[in-house]
Amino acid sequence: GGPGDHQAEDATISQGVVESNHAGFTGSGFVNYTNVAGSYVEFTVNAAQAGNATLTLRYANGTTTDRPMDIVVNGAVVSAARSFAGTGAWTSWATTTLTVPLNAGANTIRATATTANGGPNLDKITIG
Ligand code: GCU
Repeated sequence: GGPGDHQAEDATISQGVVESNHAGFTGSGFVNYTNVAGSYVEFTVNAAQAGNATLTLRYANGTTTDRPMDIVVNGAVVSAARSFAGTGAWTSWATTTLTVPLNAGANTIRATATTANGGPNLDKITIG
């Protein structure tokens, strides 16, 4: 991946497993969230300086039901129940992009499922 890429399979996973059975992922796999509210993937992202950054999440949702997730940066919800709608197939990967405030140094970025369906399959995030 590019310099801003952070693979989900390398992040901290709470209630989820790394899998590679649906093609199109980057890196060595993706995270399959456990189908439960509260399952999450947390990334640690270093920033050279404080300020806004562009956060892109790459995911697949092979169902026709939204799998919303809270996007939480350094403990603060930046996007509540953000939509991760169906992408048509587990092998069809899509992205969603938002602006997030980062501190200089280490930051945590957590994507937490808000429904009993859990999250979508998460491939990676990119900080731009
Ligand atoms: C299927 C699919 C998984 C997905 C899961 C889900 O089992 O193969 O990749 O994570 O559905 O609904 O979460």
